[in-house]
Amino acid sequence: MLQLGDEVTLYSMVFVLVLLGTRSPLWTTVLTVSLYLFLAMFRFPQVPASRVQQVLHPGSDKVSAVAHRGGGHDAPENTIAAIREARKNGAGGVELDLEFSADGVPILMHDETVDRTTNGSGPLSQMRLSDLRKLDAAAKYRLSEKFAGETIPTLEEAVEECIKLQLVIYFDVKGHPDEAAAALTELYKKHPVLYNSSIVCSFEPKVIYRMRQSDPEVVTALTHRPWSLSRLGDGVPRFSSLWKHHWMTLMDVVLDWAHHHVLWKLCGVSAFLIQKNFVSPDYVQYWAQRGVEVVAWTVNTKVEKEYYHTLLQVNYITDSLVEDCDPHY
Ligand SMILES: *[C@@H]1O[C@H](CO)[C@@H](O)[C@H](O)[C@H]1NC(C)=O
Ligand SMILES: *[C@@H]1O[C@H](CO)[C@@H](O)[C@H](O)[C@H]1NC(C)=O
Repeated sequence: MLQLGDEVTLYSMVFVLVLLGTRSPLWTTVLTVSLYLFLAMFRFPQVPASRVQQVLHPGSDKVSAVAHRGGGHDAPENTIAAIREARKNGAGGVELDLEFSADGVPILMHDETVDRTTNGSGPLSQMRLSDLRKLDAAAKYRLSEKFAGETIPTLEEAVEECIKLQLVIYFDVKGHPDEAAAALTELYKKHPVLYNSSIVCSFEPKVIYRMRQSDPEVVTALTHRPWSLSRLGDGVPRFSSLWKHHWMTLMDVVLDWAHHHVLWKLCGVSAFLIQKNFVSPDYVQYWAQRGVEVVAWTVNTKVEKEYYHTLLQVNYITDSLVEDCDPHY
């Protein structure tokens, strides 16, 4: 959908800024026209809305609750047990984190090390799948006895379980754009039902762009938390150096602007996953006008769920389908 207002604002702003910087009308015109041509030539169109509808609203549900990392409060995160628990508790989908073992096998894991969730220790980049398989994936979970014997699943195993249980999958890809795009492309080829029942999401536009280059039919989303470069989730500055903090704050402004005006269009995303506190009726409207759906994360209390479900009517990602739990940024 062409947003004439957007385009005029974008190119006017670029024009004025470049003009101020270069004082050359000729170069300003050349640069602005180049940007226009670049976006026009290299952007991906959004996938058809009917397919997005199937992915985001399975069974024509108005709002879908999505279990974060498979529902890390209700079961050990990113495990088959979590996926089953999410289904049992009525989730419409599960968000799963894609990572790779040292021998290049796609697996489910949020961190780059196994320390936080398993009884092992060390970076994934130094552990082969056969090493990872020996670990207890429930070791650090609060009810670990209940989930004894749970292992780290491969991406393939997790996907097959979700397809069997008819759960929508939100693939969260943090890095490795090339490897991730290759692994997911192969997966979509093998299981075409995923085109109607999954979405690839990332904080990194490069990952999404790479995914769409690899397979333009895949439904995609950008994930964003405003001020994420300069501040942690709870608002505490990331850097103690004052000048670095201010520099990163400026970068945050640029990144936020780019997400809302350029990157979504370049990648042709169908949804925007944003930290819940930034979602308002106006915000939902902003994206709706661009054919993009808002998904809020992470919504962890009953009162909040009510607000997102009934008032805002947007999908939300939660750590628990059954009870209130600690906030998660
Ligand atoms: C982790 O737990 C599993 C299952 O109990 C066990 O077989 C394995 O030896 C343990 N690994 C480590 C490094 O403690
Ligand atoms: C996806 O959904 C469309 C529309 O309902 C349907 O025609 C198509 O067969 C589905 N594809 C798969 C692989 O399930």
